[in-house]
Amino acid sequence: MVNLMKLRLISRRFSSFSSNPLRVCVVGSGPAGFYTAEKLLKTHERVEVDIIDRLPTPFGLVRSGVAPDHPETKENLPQIVTNQFTRVAQNERCSFFGNVSLGSSITLAELREMYNAVVLSYGAESDRSLGIPGEKLPGIYAAREFVWWYNGHPDYRDLDPDLKSTDTAVILGQGNVALDVARILLRPTAELAKTDIAVHALNALEESSIRKVYLVGRRGPVQAACTAKELREILGTKDLGIHIQQADLVTTPADEIEMKNNRIRRRVYELLSKAASTGHARVPSQRELHFVFFRKPDGFLESDGRNGQLGGVRFEKTTLKGDDELKQVAVGTGVHEDISCGLALKSIGYKSVPIEDLPFDSYKGIVPNIGGRVLADASQDHMKYETGLYVCGWLKRGPTGIIGTNLYCAEETLACISDDIEKGILTSNSPKPGKEGLAHLLDSRNQRVVSFDGWEKIDAEEKRRGNLKNKPREKLTTWEELLKVACE
Ligand SMILES: Cc1cc2nc3c(=O)[nH]c(=O)nc-3n(C[C@H](O)[C@H](O)[C@H](O)COP(=O)(O)OP(=O)(O)OC[C@H]3O[C@@H](n4cnc5c(N)ncnc54)[C@H](O)[C@@H]3O)c2cc1C
Ligand SMILES: NC(=O)c1ccc[n+]([C@@H]2O[C@H](COP(=O)([O-])OP(=O)(O)OC[C@H]3O[C@@H](n4cnc5c(N)ncnc54)[C@H](OP(=O)(O)O)[C@@H]3O)[C@@H](O)[C@H]2O)c1
Repeated sequence: MVNLMKLRLISRRFSSFSSNPLRVCVVGSGPAGFYTAEKLLKTHERVEVDIIDRLPTPFGLVRSGVAPDHPETKENLPQIVTNQFTRVAQNERCSFFGNVSLGSSITLAELREMYNAVVLSYGAESDRSLGIPGEKLPGIYAAREFVWWYNGHPDYRDLDPDLKSTDTAVILGQGNVALDVARILLRPTAELAKTDIAVHALNALEESSIRKVYLVGRRGPVQAACTAKELREILGTKDLGIHIQQADLVTTPADEIEMKNNRIRRRVYELLSKAASTGHARVPSQRELHFVFFRKPDGFLESDGRNGQLGGVRFEKTTLKGDDELKQVAVGTGVHEDISCGLALKSIGYKSVPIEDLPFDSYKGIVPNIGGRVLADASQDHMKYETGLYVCGWLKRGPTGIIGTNLYCAEETLACISDDIEKGILTSNSPKPGKEGLAHLLDSRNQRVVSFDGWEKIDAEEKRRGNLKNKPREKLTTWEELLKVACE
């Protein structure tokens, strides 16, 4: 935890050094970007923060990731954080530049020239791949694509997954994203209709013939990556039969140690055991969710009847190995098994993408950093940092953690920035063009910029349209419409 008193002291010392504001550009307006901006503005009186985002809408995965049926929960987390982030954006020392993409609208070198410091928090907008045969067959999607589709991300509104030619979907991975996706496929659409799910997705789900979903993990029920609250939510889905093989629930001494050391793992295991033993599997004709363990994907199979389309997934049965019971790994047994399906969703983790002039660790899919300071070169004995360049959120840590995790992550990055200010590494002695320079450059490139006022117009229009249908909002899902409403 950062010592706030110390940070304020540094900040006061900094204000007396120079009369120029320290200009910081934050790239990405998800939780990591907004928490960093909030902390910077609170801690340093003379800092100005501009936030750019490639979308005309702010808030990152809070808008395009969090499942539409989650805001119904009592805490209504997305609403709480978007209200908090809105107050940050309305701070007079903060500006939002939407529809500005690092890498295409502007380069990193240009941003670094215009600002004293740049904080990169542009998330993870690609996917891990399995590297197994058949991965490109039609009918296979990354969970990210499917999530963006049902959440109305303008890049994926035309995904149009075929939900009508099959009654079975296989989801690979057992994290919280996999549970979200399974719930959306299986939940009664009358319930989804009350949420802000994108209208094109609701229409497709209403016509969907999918009745059976397999959630497949390469390890066992003790290692399922989901958390208890999210698991409880899907187990409680109306009219849903839950199927779990009792044999998969047998634990080993290593599993017992793992559960002893991790309360969440124990809770998840207990919930799965209870669901298996209380006969959640009800009468036929209902929707079914099958939890399948100890199966690693080995290949995607082409359909016999529908040429060139997905027909199933081949799995290799696994067993767990590992001296360290805290990281038991799945090892193939050489025994294979197929599950027929017409839709497969790979929910095995997101992946960040590199941009020009930025050090990038392709193996980990992150920007190499220590505590948020970007490393110019991590391979040498002496760590060399990129002056004035920082990173936060999924781009810094990898694609794990809930919204709140990014708050601690932002505090850590802020501590590096404050430290660099104190040491005089980061100064505003020579004035930087900041937002005026950025606006000028973007204007010269005919780039339409969406201000925070522009986003508030989108917000108001979405709420107005939602109100007519008795739902929280009706999302605008095309670039044209978003920009038209924001800029008119
Ligand atoms: C499907 C899903 C559901 C989730 N549900 C929950 C939940 O219910 N509760 C919870 O607590 N956590 C949830 N999480 C986790 C949470 O959303 C993340 O921890 C968090 O959003 C990560 O924050 P971030 O700022 O690093 O990235 P993001 O939220 O992804 O924000 C990145 C931002 O950068 C922008 N960007 C990308 N590229 C560029 C570029 N080149 N130039 C400019 N801008 C760019 C993007 O448009 C985006 O706005 C969920 C995650 C996923 C994937
Ligand atoms: N409601 C919420 O709070 C909420 C909702 C959604 C997401 N989130 C958060 O967002 C983060 C990302 O979630 P996520 O579900 O994308 O990631 P995750 O929690 O890391 O889960 C990834 C899953 O994919 C599996 N996997 C990875 N590589 C694989 C491979 N090669 N073959 C087969 N399986 C593989 C993992 O299995 P192994 O364990 O064996 O590696 C795991 O089951 C998480 O921190 C999550 O909690 C939160």
